[in-house]
Amino acid sequence: MKRKLFAAVLCASMVAGTLVVPTAVHAEESKGLIGVAMPTQDLQRWNQDGENMKKELEAKGYEVDLQYAGNDVATQVSQIENMIANGDQLLVIASIEGDSLGTVLAQAKENEIPVIAYDRLIMNTDAVSYYATFDNYLVGKTQGEYIVDALDLENTDGPYNIEFVTGDPGDNNVNFFFGGAMDVLQPYIDEGKLVVPSGQMTKDEVATVNWATETAQARFENILSSYYADGTNLDAVLASNDSTALGVANALAANYTGEYPVITGQDCDVANMPNIIDGKQAMSVFKDTRTLASKVVEMVDAIMTGGEAPVNDTESYDNGTGIIPSYLCEPVAVTADNYKELLIDSGYYTEDQFE
Ligand code: BGC
Repeated sequence: MKRKLFAAVLCASMVAGTLVVPTAVHAEESKGLIGVAMPTQDLQRWNQDGENMKKELEAKGYEVDLQYAGNDVATQVSQIENMIANGDQLLVIASIEGDSLGTVLAQAKENEIPVIAYDRLIMNTDAVSYYATFDNYLVGKTQGEYIVDALDLENTDGPYNIEFVTGDPGDNNVNFFFGGAMDVLQPYIDEGKLVVPSGQMTKDEVATVNWATETAQARFENILSSYYADGTNLDAVLASNDSTALGVANALAANYTGEYPVITGQDCDVANMPNIIDGKQAMSVFKDTRTLASKVVEMVDAIMTGGEAPVNDTESYDNGTGIIPSYLCEPVAVTADNYKELLIDSGYYTEDQFE
């Protein structure tokens, strides 16, 4: 799978004070053209994911066709069509809507172009060769366990009030985030230690289209005015990620005067770090995008050179056509107490980014 990449290299030399520019154009070997389709540049993490992958793939000698789709499914489909038409040899795709890529990926399959689903599983198509993500169930479980510990649910009776805010209903990860958290929290709801004053607990009721901060904020403002305006205390909010946690914090800032709740999150977005440091968001789940990008680059390189892609899970992720062999990276809980070590000392961020 080698392509020639013709890089115009100017081999200039000075001869007796005259600039001589020979016409030689050096041919460099490219190991192949890789299409990387990311959902949006609106959210910090996808910019990091895209940039990390591009940098690492190029360092390994690949050409990279990196596209962001502005969270618009039709745009993502047409970007992938173009990648196929342009001769991209492998596609790495973080889908906007897991169920909407079947038709375009049938074309990829016809053209024998391998597909790696990146972070979000692509559903109901047999064109997906591998899946690389963080352990999404563990993300939700970690958030749920944080709430159990923070409210000391094992040793106290409560009852404590909790609300739920998850993400886009078309994102398969939501099932794992919400499922993992509910496996931990549901027993306490059943026992009556946790109460949900809004009563909103189904996946559709707690969803946030496109994971948008404004949408989460609007829904939470409604919840506060309908169920908490009489002074009812809110003890915890399970927010599945940082963009939705930010919406919750914004709604609370303008509409709530009770004791501040425990709020969870995910991604350690720069925008959320001041809230985490100030204790307005109790925790986030750190998914080091450098780790995921490196793993995917390893997978790409293995596939492109005819080797075996690394996987560590062959049970959890069925996309409707069967289990997709997966590599799951490990997420870690971040709080005001350990963010320095995990985010600053590791070189992921610099402290001045949080000012
Ligand atoms: C990702 C999260 C992210 C969310 C919104 C999910 O699929 O796993 O890390 O916060 O999408 O972009």
